[in-house]
Amino acid sequence: MRILFRASLVAAGLLAVAVVASAGQGAPKPPANDDCLACHGDPTAKRANGTSIAFDEGTQKAFGASKHAQMACVDCHQDLAALKEFPHPDTLAKVNCGTCHDAAQEKFMRGVHARARQDGRMLAATCVDCHGMHDIQGAAEPSSPTNHLNLPATCAKCHGNLDIITRGHIQIGNVAAIYHDSIHGKALEKSGLLVAPSCVDCHGNHDIARKSEATSPVFRANIPATCGKCHAGIKQQYDAGVHAAALKKGDSRAPVCIDCHTAHAIQRADTDSWRLAVTAECGTCHANVVDSFRLTFHGKVTELGFSRVASCADCHGPHDILPALNPASLVSQANLVTTCGKCHANASASFVKYDPHPNPRSYQRGRVLWWANRFYWALIPACFGFFGLHSLLWFRRSWRNGHGTASHEKDGGRA
Ligand code: HEC
Ligand code: HEC
Ligand code: HEC
Ligand code: HEC
Ligand code: HEC
Ligand code: HEC
Ligand code: HEC
Ligand code: HEC
Ligand code: HEC
Ligand code: HEC
Ligand code: HEC
Repeated sequence: MRILFRASLVAAGLLAVAVVASAGQGAPKPPANDDCLACHGDPTAKRANGTSIAFDEGTQKAFGASKHAQMACVDCHQDLAALKEFPHPDTLAKVNCGTCHDAAQEKFMRGVHARARQDGRMLAATCVDCHGMHDIQGAAEPSSPTNHLNLPATCAKCHGNLDIITRGHIQIGNVAAIYHDSIHGKALEKSGLLVAPSCVDCHGNHDIARKSEATSPVFRANIPATCGKCHAGIKQQYDAGVHAAALKKGDSRAPVCIDCHTAHAIQRADTDSWRLAVTAECGTCHANVVDSFRLTFHGKVTELGFSRVASCADCHGPHDILPALNPASLVSQANLVTTCGKCHANASASFVKYDPHPNPRSYQRGRVLWWANRFYWALIPACFGFFGLHSLLWFRRSWRNGHGTASHEKDGGRA
């Protein structure tokens, strides 16, 4: 079978050689697509190692419907453009899409996938992994792998494939599965919502970078802006709050959207389970507040699973959180009657004296303790140093005095 196939290839090749030769009477003409298909059109065409090199009818149809339908094979397989006669070498140069798409190529070369490939980690994506090979479509085409609705599946070929995740050392693991079950994933993959984000809305497409790189849209400090492209109203509220202010000051402990919502597992924000989880999340930074909150009526009932009683965000707001001393804060003295009044219809100035969580200033207290701690540790060497020096001087003096007395005695003796 193999020999038969080889023989047919040679026959077709002779034909093709003839075609190239006849074309080459004037200026040498590059091989035409039909020359290539004389061998590759055979659906059983294989390499010596057994892998397929068929450009069968299905592929020809897909090629004919692709963005590149008008192109010659050798526009992409450029090392064959100047071919004098068939057969061509077994191994050909890789297609360089950048000869025509230099802007996309240049951006891609900056991205994490290209850099990984340059370092020899060849599992990372290249043009054909996201766009296809001979069936490339524009993103507007519903069947294109880069169509908005198909993109999660395109990235999931690798980021949802445990073998590639393991061998490619992709730390974060199977994000595609997590995204699939999130509100964004459901909105896009199930409801077909074009306004819901696919992977590239948060990561970019060609110049995808790691979260540790300051240019990445998922670099910590850039996350509010990335989510804010769509959630513009929430971004405005967040920007007005104390957490955004702390972030702008460079406080790396300040929470960004994903601390409370996660990045890939985002859920509706009005379910009981989520509201309980976010209370715990506030506690990862405001630990003492949550501890004292648990002792209050609101806290105890919340702990039992009734998130509607009053959890942190009901009194402080979820995004526009401000310190109590700021008059615009929901928990400022001026606003408390209104804030408690959302649920306690007859809240009065005396009612709001109830302490919603004793010792609320834990965060500051935490910082005070931190400084106190430093001060304490600084105090020890300072004390030892001071008293040590003091003792030394004292010994020196008493030694001197001792000798002094002796000599004095001598002197005295002399005198
Ligand atoms: C005479 C038959 C024949 C003709 C004509 C022919 N090819 Fe091939 N081609 C082959 C064979 C056989 C192989 C597999 C070589 C091997 O065993 O690795 C191959 C392999 C290839 C490969 C894979 C190379 C690689 O590095 O893996 C490409 C791409 C290719 N051909 C493109 C073309 C194009 C484009 C044309 C027209 C310009 C063409 N071929 C014309 C027989 C032919
Ligand atoms: C838009 C660019 C483009 C055009 C046009 C194009 N190819 Fe390819 N072709 C590729 C890419 C990309 C690959 C993947 C290998 C690589 O990167 O070199 C490939 C691979 C191949 C292979 C190897 C198949 C495999 O699975 O490894 C063959 C055979 C081939 N092309 C034949 C053709 C023939 C015949 C034509 C014309 C009818 C053609 N190509 C037109 C881009 C193109
Ligand atoms: C990780 C996946 C991925 C890789 C790898 C990739 N692309 Fe893209 N590319 C996309 C997506 C997604 C779009 C669609 C963007 C949109 O919706 O407008 C796109 C769009 C394009 C476009 C359309 C014009 C444009 O800029 O919007 C071209 C051309 C293109 N890519 C070429 C390339 C080339 C060339 C390479 C390799 C150097 C490459 N791409 C690698 C995902 C990828
Ligand atoms: C010889 C030049 C050439 C090469 C090489 C080439 N392309 Fe193209 N590409 C084009 C042309 C021309 C178009 C059609 C543009 C149009 O219709 O607006 C196109 C269209 C596209 C589109 C659709 C862009 C859009 O805006 O809808 C994508 C995606 C694309 N190419 C990706 C690739 C990839 C990936 C490769 C490498 C495998 C590649 N191209 C190789 C010339 C080329
Ligand atoms: C062909 C497989 C493949 C495809 C398709 C692919 N990736 Fe990747 N991606 C990888 C591999 C492998 C790495 C690890 C690169 C390295 O070694 O540094 C990676 C790295 C990343 C990283 C950096 C994280 C890290 O651990 O280094 C991000 C972010 C990323 N990809 C996003 C995407 C997005 C978004 C898409 C779809 C538009 C996509 N990838 C498509 C294979 C792929
Ligand atoms: C709503 C925005 C959003 C969407 C949609 C999204 N991501 Fe992410 N992704 C992020 C953020 C934010 C991070 C950083 C997480 C962190 O800092 O812990 C991240 C991290 C990653 C990482 C790890 C990056 C690193 O440097 O370690 C990979 C890989 C990744 N995402 C792939 C994907 C893939 C694949 C999809 C689609 C299935 C996707 N993401 C969808 C926002 C998103
Ligand atoms: C400190 C925690 C926290 C941070 C940071 C945070 N959120 Fe929220 N978010 C919440 C809470 C709590 C709710 C629920 C509000 C409610 O029940 O009224 C919420 C609700 C939402 C909602 C649903 C609207 C609603 O009121 O039900 C969206 C959308 C949202 N957040 C997006 C974001 C975005 C985008 C960012 C970053 C700019 C962000 N969040 C930052 C805690 C947070
Ligand atoms: C491309 C636009 C887009 C981006 C970017 C985006 N989202 Fe969304 N998000 C949506 C849409 C659309 C929905 C509504 C889906 C639905 O209701 O089915 C949504 C829903 C949500 C919800 C649930 C709201 C509710 O009603 O309870 C939260 C929370 C949320 N997004 C947070 C985020 C966070 C955090 C980020 C950044 C890491 C982000 N989103 C990035 C478009 C976006
Ligand atoms: C990732 C850590 C983190 C999380 C999670 C977090 N915060 Fe904060 N919070 C901070 C930081 C940092 C400040 C700013 C402190 C400063 O500027 O002195 C702050 C300030 C505040 C303030 C202003 C009072 C003060 O101590 O400055 C309130 C009120 C507050 N947060 C409430 C909340 C609530 C409610 C949640 C949950 C919905 C929450 N925080 C989640 C880190 C966090
Ligand atoms: C029933 C309403 C209510 C609930 C629920 C609530 N708080 Fe408060 N919180 C307040 C009020 C009122 C103050 C101001 C008290 C004061 O100044 O003595 C305050 C003060 C604070 C402060 C200090 C603010 C400052 O400027 O000094 C932090 C931090 C805080 N709360 C965090 C939380 C967290 C985290 C939760 C959830 C575990 C929570 N709160 C739940 C009403 C509430
Ligand atoms: C999101 C709704 C909500 C908010 C906001 C809220 N509470 Fe409550 N609170 C409740 C519910 C529900 C109960 C239990 C039913 C009841 O007794 O009314 C409760 C119970 C109480 C109780 C104990 C029961 C009682 O009535 O004696 C006190 C005291 C209290 N709240 C004070 C406050 C104060 C002070 C504020 C403002 C700082 C506040 N609450 C804000 C919902 C809320």
